[in-house]
Amino acid sequence: MKLTFNKVKKWLNILWKITGTAIFLIGIGIFISRVINIVPSAELSKKEQVISILEEGGCFVCHGGPDYCTHLHWPVIGRMISKNAEKGIRYASATSILEHFHNNKIIDEALLIKGQKVIAERSMPPVIYRIIHWKSLITKDKQRLLLRWIYEYMASDHGWPMPTQERPFEPVRPLPDSLPADLAKVNLGRILYHDPRLSADSTVSCATCHNPETAGVDNLDYSVGTDGLLGMYSTLTTYNAVFHPFFFWDGRASSLPQLSVLMLTDPVTMGNESFVDVVQRLEADLDFKSLFTGSYPEGYSAESISDALAQYHKVLITPDAPFDKYLQGDSDAIGPEAKKGYRLFKRLGCASCHNSVGIGGNSIEYMGLSNDFFSVRDSIRLPDLGRYRVTAKREDIHKFKVPGLRNIELTYPYFHNASAPDLKTAVEAMAFHQKNKQLNKRKVQQIISFLHTLTGTFREKSPAVSEGQ
Ligand code: HEC
Ligand code: HEC
Ligand code: HEC
Repeated sequence: MKLTFNKVKKWLNILWKITGTAIFLIGIGIFISRVINIVPSAELSKKEQVISILEEGGCFVCHGGPDYCTHLHWPVIGRMISKNAEKGIRYASATSILEHFHNNKIIDEALLIKGQKVIAERSMPPVIYRIIHWKSLITKDKQRLLLRWIYEYMASDHGWPMPTQERPFEPVRPLPDSLPADLAKVNLGRILYHDPRLSADSTVSCATCHNPETAGVDNLDYSVGTDGLLGMYSTLTTYNAVFHPFFFWDGRASSLPQLSVLMLTDPVTMGNESFVDVVQRLEADLDFKSLFTGSYPEGYSAESISDALAQYHKVLITPDAPFDKYLQGDSDAIGPEAKKGYRLFKRLGCASCHNSVGIGGNSIEYMGLSNDFFSVRDSIRLPDLGRYRVTAKREDIHKFKVPGLRNIELTYPYFHNASAPDLKTAVEAMAFHQKNKQLNKRKVQQIISFLHTLTGTFREKSPAVSEGQ
């Protein structure tokens, strides 16, 4: 009995020594890191200070791609960090920041908004990295410097307002009430948008699939193009697309005119073998031709027709959503449940992908970032490859354009494959597949209440109604 007691005492003693030493070392670690982890010298330029903090933070080790992950050869810890780096690059690629520092390229706004979140929360670098790199923790001083740089950069290069005490940073911005536009060209675009003669068999217009009176979509799983052919993707809305920097689920168009040309010559959507076919059908209508040449003296061409359609998108915007009024300072514009939903939307990190004016539409991200979305499905279709279909890069498999969430309650069904018939299914799927969270009913409902406040004012009618034809 005595023997066992002594044994226990001995082990307790050893345990205490180990814990004591660990506490002592951690204490020393914290103390030293406080002393050595200081902001870069004020003599450096702002850019150099930022690079230095990001380098000390190891941000490029895990977010700059394999070339920057210098820890791979380390035993045990190297494996842990490289695992973190593999995950890190899926969540956020720092390529555009590196290109900015090297070649002065513009950093995309979605990445800055993502960065703002982790720096405001001081949640990066991960603990495993902080334990071995004592200068990597983002201290309050470093945080202040980085956030200021982000806000100034966003103000100068992306036109964001500087946050103030009364109006702190929000990842979403209100829509402008209108955009400057040449109204004659807008009108031509409107007529063309509704004109079935743009399709090979004169049965389908842009408005067939993007009816301005049904939020710019057809609410079908897959839309029906010329000759009754079925498309491969669920329709994206034309409303507020003008605020997006690129288009389509796989991001294959980088401007609205380019998009229109692709749509018009797509074998399923509008079926024209070439633009000449479109021009020929329009030539027959002399009245419209004279109206058209009033604004486009060069006459019909891929450029002029697609430009007119792009001009029309400038009025396909939906300002005055209750949420915009809320952002502009009217705190009663949305109810308490929607406010909770918005807070949750930010806290969960939905706003890391769905942000800015379009509340999405400005980045390409993995579908199934945290939990695979495709392995559980019965069949995988070609479009599920996403961005890979354009770039043929392995890392682009299952990456899709993040859809804008404006008027989302009206643009069902959801996802590129229309697999979510309603918002409840879509929100639950997003929380699980993107953020590894299984939300309870109340939280899902709060997020849906918030999403309902994103419905704006629709001013566009079909020409027959608005022009009294
Ligand atoms: C050891 C690797 C590692 C280092 C170092 C690291 N990260 Fe990360 N980062 C990750 C991982 C892993 C994730 C995925 C999310 C998670 O696990 O929390 C991530 C996620 C992110 C995200 C996306 C967050 C979101 O909500 O989408 C951003 C932005 C980010 N990191 C920025 C940084 C910055 C800035 C630094 C430097 C201060 C940094 N990271 C350092 C591994 C790292
Ligand atoms: C047969 C139905 C159909 C017709 C006709 C059609 N579209 Fe689309 N549109 C779609 C589908 C489906 C998508 C998503 C396809 C994809 O991503 O590949 C889409 C995508 C778009 C987008 C992209 C929105 C975004 O957020 O990226 C715009 C803008 C657009 N179409 C405008 C037009 C215009 C302009 C016309 C007429 C010239 C037109 N569409 C004709 C079905 C159609
Ligand atoms: C990592 C980026 C990312 C995060 C985080 C994210 N989303 Fe998404 N979201 C996407 C992408 C990409 C799609 C399109 C996926 C597809 O169609 O396969 C999408 C689609 C959606 C849709 C359907 C839109 C449509 O028009 O079909 C809704 C609604 C949505 N997200 C809400 C949310 C909510 C709520 C959260 C937070 C719980 C969230 N998202 C988090 C990237 C993200």
